[in-house]
Order: sequence, then C-alpha cells, then structure tokens
Amino acid sequence: MRIFTTVLGLRTALRGDGQLGLVPTMGALHAGHRSIVERARRENERLVVSLFVNPLQFGPDEDFQQYPRTPEADQALCASLGVDFLFMPSAAELGICNLGTQVVPPPAMAAVLCGPGRPGHFTGVATIVTQLLQIVQPQRAYFGQKDAQQVAIIRRVVADLRIPTQILTCPTWRESSGLAYSSRNQYLSPQAKQQAAILYQSLTAAAAVFTTGCRERLELLEVVRRELAKEPGVKLEYLDLVHPVTLTPLEVVAGQGLLALAAWVDSTRLIDNLLLSQRRPILAIDGPAGAGKSTVAQRVAQILGLLYLDSGAMYRAVTWLVLDAKVPVTDEAAVAELVGQAQLEMRTGPEGMQVWVNGTDVTMAIRDPQVTEQVPGIAAQAAVREYLLGHQQAYGAQGGIVMDGRDIGTQVFPDAEVKVFLTASNQERARRRYLDLQARGYTSPSREQLEQDIQERDLFDSTRALSPLRRAVDAVEIQTDNLTLEAVVERVVALYRERGGEPS
Ligand code: PAJ
Repeated sequence: MRIFTTVLGLRTALRGDGQLGLVPTMGALHAGHRSIVERARRENERLVVSLFVNPLQFGPDEDFQQYPRTPEADQALCASLGVDFLFMPSAAELGICNLGTQVVPPPAMAAVLCGPGRPGHFTGVATIVTQLLQIVQPQRAYFGQKDAQQVAIIRRVVADLRIPTQILTCPTWRESSGLAYSSRNQYLSPQAKQQAAILYQSLTAAAAVFTTGCRERLELLEVVRRELAKEPGVKLEYLDLVHPVTLTPLEVVAGQGLLALAAWVDSTRLIDNLLLSQRRPILAIDGPAGAGKSTVAQRVAQILGLLYLDSGAMYRAVTWLVLDAKVPVTDEAAVAELVGQAQLEMRTGPEGMQVWVNGTDVTMAIRDPQVTEQVPGIAAQAAVREYLLGHQQAYGAQGGIVMDGRDIGTQVFPDAEVKVFLTASNQERARRRYLDLQARGYTSPSREQLEQDIQERDLFDSTRALSPLRRAVDAVEIQTDNLTLEAVVERVVALYRERGGEPS
C-alpha cells in the first residue's frame, strides 16, 4: 500500500489503466468502514481510500477538535485489507483554509433531517466529496447507508454536475445490540452504549408494523416514539419519514420510505435510519453467451409475475440503430452522438418484450444475424454502456424485475436481492445455439464453427476493459449442462422466493 499526502503524488500514482474505486472516510476506521473497503476491494482493480477529517462539515460548536484520530491503526487496517493507495492530505493541501468555492446541494435536500441542526454541514460534505472525486476521478465511489441523507445528496450532486463516477451505497454495519458502528461511538460509556441500542430497536419496531401493511407517517413515527420513550436517557433531536432519493417528507409510503432519526445520548449525537420498502426483489441473471439466460429469465418472470427486462435486446437495439444510420461501428464518438439522441423504449406486450427505437418497432429486426455479429463491438463501448445503464437502473427502481446480461449483478444492480450466474460448457452452448438458429429458420454454421465462435466471444466478454463478464461474489452459480430448462427455472424461482422472502 502506498500512502500519499499530496494531490500531485496521488495523481501521478494513479496514472495508467485499471478500474478505480474510491472510499472517502474521516478515519477512526471501524467495522462499518471495513465492510465498505472490503466490497470496494472486490469490485475494483485499483482502490483508493481517503482519510481526511474535513473541517468544512463541522459547525463552530461541534466536535472537530475532539473527533477521534487514529492514523496508525487506520493505515494498518487499510494495508491488511489490500488497499492500493491511502490518501491522507492536510487541510492546507486541499486549500481548505482559503477555499472560495463551495458546492451547495439543493436547499430542500439540506433542509430536512440533519440539515436544520447542522447548518452548512452538507455544503461542507458536498464540497469535499466533489473535490475528492475530481482528484481521484474514480469509476466508482462507495458510501454508507448509515448516512442516508449524505448519500442521497451526493448522488444528486454527482448527477447534477455530470461527474462520471458511479455512486454505490453499502448497508449499515451494526454491533450485535443493533447499534450502528460510528466513529463517535468512542465517546459513549458502556451504559450509554446500552441505552443507544434503543435507536435501532425503535426503527425495527416501526419496520415490523410496516410489514403488516401500515404505510401511514403518523402511525409509523408514533411506534418509534413509543419505543424510544422506554429509554429516558435518550433525547430525540428529530424523527422523520422521507423519500430515500429526494428526501421529501412522506405522508404515506408508496414504494420506499426512509425512516430516519438523530438522538442525543449524554453529550453524543447519534444518527440511524431504516429503509422501509414494499418493492419486490430484483433478480439479476448473468452468464456467458448461450447459457440460456434469456429463456430462463422470461420463464421465471412469467411464473413470478416480474417484469422481464432483456438487456441483450437493448444492446441489439442500439446496434440496429447504428447499422440503420450507417454510422461506422468503430467510430465511438459518432456512435455516442447517435445514441445520445435516441429514444429507446421497452414495452411488455402479449408476445414478450417489444423494443422501439425512435418510434419504430424493431423487435424482429434486432434478431438479424448482422446485428448479432456487431453486438459485441457495440456493447464494449463506454458511451453505449453508460447510456443503457441509466435506462436499466430507471426500470429497476420500481423493483419486481428480472434482468439478464453479463454485468447485471456486478454493475447494473449491484444491490439486487437475488443474483444467479448461469453457465454451460462450450459444446452444450453450441448445441443450443445450433438448434435455436434452425428453429428460427436461419442457416446455421457448423457446430464446430459455433463452438469456436462461442470460445472467442467468451474471451472477448471476459477480458474487455469495460464491465467484463464476472460472477458477482454473492451470485449463486448454476451449471446447466445436465439440467432441463424446467429444472433450471424451478431452481431460480425457489431461490427468488427464498432470498426475496416471498411465499413459495
Ligand atoms: P465517515 O463518517 O468516516 O464515514 C465514511 C463512510 O463510511 C461514509 O460513507 C459512511 O456512511 C460510512 N459508514 C459510517 N458508519 C457506517 C456503518 N456503521 N456501516 C456502514 N457504513 C458506515 O461520512 C463521512 O466520513 C464524511 O462525511 C465523508 C463522506 C468522508 C466526507 O468528509
């Protein structure tokens, strides 16, 4: 692990290739930070952790001076977790003392939850995070759901300022009592720690009521208040129910709601939150070409009543558009310009998914062998992937969706509740492709040729720089060579019910 204290040193070290991830922290690292770093380590070739206690986000009466600082322990932990670069700048290095420019998040997002009690805090956070993203320029940056308002604001800032970094949110890590890990827990006496466990208990009490069908703000907040009252040493600062993305206060939860609070235990301020969701789980199916992903995904969607989103069809649609417009497939900028103006629509019709490009139904046309031939080259282009990623995630926001592809569980829906990786041997995939082409009336190349094509396609897909085909660590692998389609479908349906908590 290399440690840098200057922007120049870090930037020089970061020259070169390899997907880059960033985990910003203020140090005094604990198990919550650790879980984020571990995930970022798995998902990126190169990993930067930043450690900077940011004065801009502390109010004049807050604990900037006392904030715990444990640089040696932090360095040792980062080194043991395989971090490549630790960035520990001074305030002077980042120009903090003389900073004329600030990033001001949307006032409405900073006016709720922690905002009123911490004026200027989110401007301080948005400013430093924007600066870190500019310095490191990572493909991905990781934040904790523990600070739900912070991550919602960062997502919005990154979207508004068109910063080309994907923001990923990691679950809250908790002690066995339910108390969320926080650097500020160091201020708590053993007794205060025990009392603080009531925060999470009160949120889960409301979540339990939510699962019985209660969606009303007043009732949900009342449950939390009643629970909190059992611990008189805990003084509530705020309690609210807001939309997790926009942070708008909610009267009723339709879809998702964020139940969030801040409370004082002795002289320590603690925050916690819980996502209330009536969204059905997302199912991500990945695997190499010809493993049967789309057939399985469609059947599973039918059985479970999920929306089937065929990402392959989306890439085909873009390829069709490029060929139709006679834009050279290798001219990435021209392809990007064309795609940036395109209207792509996926509709579920009686015959399955229909695909429309700029008002034309291309459902059949995208199956043309000429399109098939050009899809890999188009799907490997960064601009095309970025464009489709936005579309796919927007469809996914409603939940209850199944999607298949090569990077669904790793890239498109890294938080999918259920992930499956379908594989089959080359020979088996060539056999299936052969039968499929024949059934659809195309003259098929020989089985040997198909096998060779598949081998080449696999190599291309798994070694390409962008979103290579990779099994998500939390995906369940199903080898389908000796399984009938029905057997595979049955296993995936069972998995969805089991993991997604739906009745079988
Ligand atoms: P800090 O409090 O050090 O937290 C760094 C990251 O760890 C944040 O994204 C935070 O949400 C996450 N985190 C904290 N406690 C967690 C827990 N119990 N489980 C999971 N994740 C947890 O948040 C900041 O620093 C700063 O505001 C920063 C973003 C670095 C900007 O200065």
